Amino acid sequence: MHDVMEGYYENVIDSVGDGVIVLDNSGAVTFVNPAAEEICGVSRRQAKGKRFSSIFSGSDLLLEMVEKTMATGMSVSDHENVVMRRGGRVVPVSASTSPLQMSDGERGGTIVVLRDLTKVRELEAAVRHADRLSSLGTLAAGLAHEIKNPLGGIKGAAQLLEMELPESHEMREYTRVVLKEVQRVNSIVEQLLALASPGKLKLDKVNLHQVLGDIILLQKHDTDCRGITVHQFFDPSIPPIVADESLITQLFLNLIRNAIEAIGEGGTLKVTSRIVYDYSMSQRGEGRARLLAVDVADNGPGIAEENLEQLFMPFFTTKPTGTGLGLAICQKIVSEHRGMINVDSHAGRGTVFTVSLPLLQ
Ligand SMILES: Nc1ncnc2c1ncn2[C@@H]1O[C@H](COP(=O)(O)OP(=O)(O)OP(=O)(O)O)[C@@H](O)[C@H]1O
Ligand SMILES: [Mg+2]
Repeated sequence: MHDVMEGYYENVIDSVGDGVIVLDNSGAVTFVNPAAEEICGVSRRQAKGKRFSSIFSGSDLLLEMVEKTMATGMSVSDHENVVMRRGGRVVPVSASTSPLQMSDGERGGTIVVLRDLTKVRELEAAVRHADRLSSLGTLAAGLAHEIKNPLGGIKGAAQLLEMELPESHEMREYTRVVLKEVQRVNSIVEQLLALASPGKLKLDKVNLHQVLGDIILLQKHDTDCRGITVHQFFDPSIPPIVADESLITQLFLNLIRNAIEAIGEGGTLKVTSRIVYDYSMSQRGEGRARLLAVDVADNGPGIAEENLEQLFMPFFTTKPTGTGLGLAICQKIVSEHRGMINVDSHAGRGTVFTVSLPLLQ
């Protein structure tokens, strides 16, 4: 009976979504559940019997918490500023440490409970961004409507003027410039309106690889002219997705255009599709959610650290003739599809934009 119950409790702890690590009184690891393996990037086998302080030598705060609990027998709860380094990535973690009380009243060691805060932090950032965008959006929509009417007047007058001028008249050059610039302002206003209005998705089955292939083909003239090598790595097992094809096209076109504009002569553009599994987005009853991820990677100059924050803000641009609406529109399209867009970039080393979308099957 005792053994059966032991197995039972082990199953319970293994199934908990939070990471659980147990140490004995000497500070050696005696137990690691699968969620803790996932969060810390260490396997149960590697960790068992090793000193906790040698495995987590990079996490000073966590070591301090464990030391405090070991020394005083007191719990330290929900410290949100713990970070784990996992494969070169920094993972925000919330940690609690508590003493392991044995039935005889003695202390049997220390329990460390860890919770991955990556998704929470990302959601917080998305909410902050949405807040900023919605007040900006209301302003922009009002402004766009105000601009469209006078713009129509200017366009009409310029067209009339053009008709009055003889074919070879030198003033025709001026009317041509006016009409071209009116067209430019008009397209900015249209984009702004698209950004500010709540979108209605025209959902259909979309063959993502076809969309990506078409975009790459469409850009072939530009990439050939600049001597850019284009690689595409598509996972053939990815099924059609349910999405708005014209928006998805716009999304990846914007990202691929940005990459091409960033790459100098002779650089490389890499477009990859893959399936990823996400434990933290899992639904009740299934272990993990299946997501589709597309990476658009370039080896251009990268993005300066101080610009990363503003990248998705409307009108943020570093290009002389850029509008700065491309990425804001991308963000909107992705969130309307209940996905995420992330950027990984280092000045001098290139940029990877990753779009992840839910795979409904
Ligand atoms: N792949 C990339 N490499 C380097 N910088 C990039 C990359 N993608 C975007 N950026 C930076 O982000 C800024 C904003 O991009 P965004 O697409 O929103 O606007 P834009 O390209 O400047 O103008 P447009 O409205 O014409 O797209 C760019 O000006 C550039 O500084
Ligand atoms: Mg752009």
